[in-house]
Amino acid sequence: MPATNATSTGHEASDAGWLDIHFESSRPEYEDALRQVGIRPGWSILDAGCGGGSFLPLMAELVGRAGSIAALDLAPENIARTEALAARLDPKPRLAATVGSVLDLPFADASFDLVWSANVMQYLTHDQFRQATREALRVLKPGGLLAVKDFDSTILQILPMDRGVFSRFMAARLQTFRDRGVLGTDCGSMLPGLLRAEGAEIAWRRGWLVERWAPAGEHTRAYVRDLLSYFATVAPGYDLPAADQATWREVAARPEGLLDQPDFCYREFFVVTVCCKPTA
Ligand SMILES: C[S@@+](CC[C@H](N)C(=O)[O-])C[C@H]1O[C@@H](n2cnc3c(N)ncnc32)[C@H](O)[C@@H]1O
Repeated sequence: MPATNATSTGHEASDAGWLDIHFESSRPEYEDALRQVGIRPGWSILDAGCGGGSFLPLMAELVGRAGSIAALDLAPENIARTEALAARLDPKPRLAATVGSVLDLPFADASFDLVWSANVMQYLTHDQFRQATREALRVLKPGGLLAVKDFDSTILQILPMDRGVFSRFMAARLQTFRDRGVLGTDCGSMLPGLLRAEGAEIAWRRGWLVERWAPAGEHTRAYVRDLLSYFATVAPGYDLPAADQATWREVAARPEGLLDQPDFCYREFFVVTVCCKPTA
């Protein structure tokens, strides 16, 4: 797996193997967020940008045998992973997995009770976000819900890493998103306003802190190791002091130096925004 964990479509941090270890490290909070949406038995759900299908098992449990799930992703290999995962579930969910784009959903108007889209908006430009929102609202039934989850990486910490090194890296990283015109990994807290600007009615929004102190469990260790390696891979492309670049190389070469610290702590923050499609 390349250190940027990119898919065949070029989206970084989107490879299903990477998504799996991140999901396992944060599973309680991620699953709690999905549960809070209030999925009912019998619902028809679209998982827009499903990745490897990490949310699929819980979605299948919540909609039950009478419900159905459509999983859509741009990366064919992620759709293959989602199908393979579904095949292992018992009972088997009613799943239709499709390669496609959130910008042009291959579904009829008013098809779904819920459109769930987790960590996808960060990749879109503002125009694409507007298009994706229109498409999501189009395929929702009247009264249906659009639930969008994304990170606010202005609240991302890996302690006890040097604060200056980390904050300069994150500032440079967020600037790359601004330069490319994409919403970026800090968009979670902006999504309520951006959705409202598209005429969506915000039903609620809420943030979750994922916090893992030492001793870190195996999934968090695997995830943070990979995250540090990813950051060290992209850092040379950022305008950072030579001493910062050296620190990134050292940290990536020996992540245990951080992970084994008695006060190691990983913190991430994400926000779920839920909109309701008006009934009339
Ligand atoms: C960070 S992953 C999140 C996957 C999954 N929702 C999760 O939370 O585990 C982002 C996913 O969005 C997909 N993606 C990016 N742009 C897309 C688009 N325009 N249409 C559909 N999927 C897209 C990527 O292929 C990738 O699988």
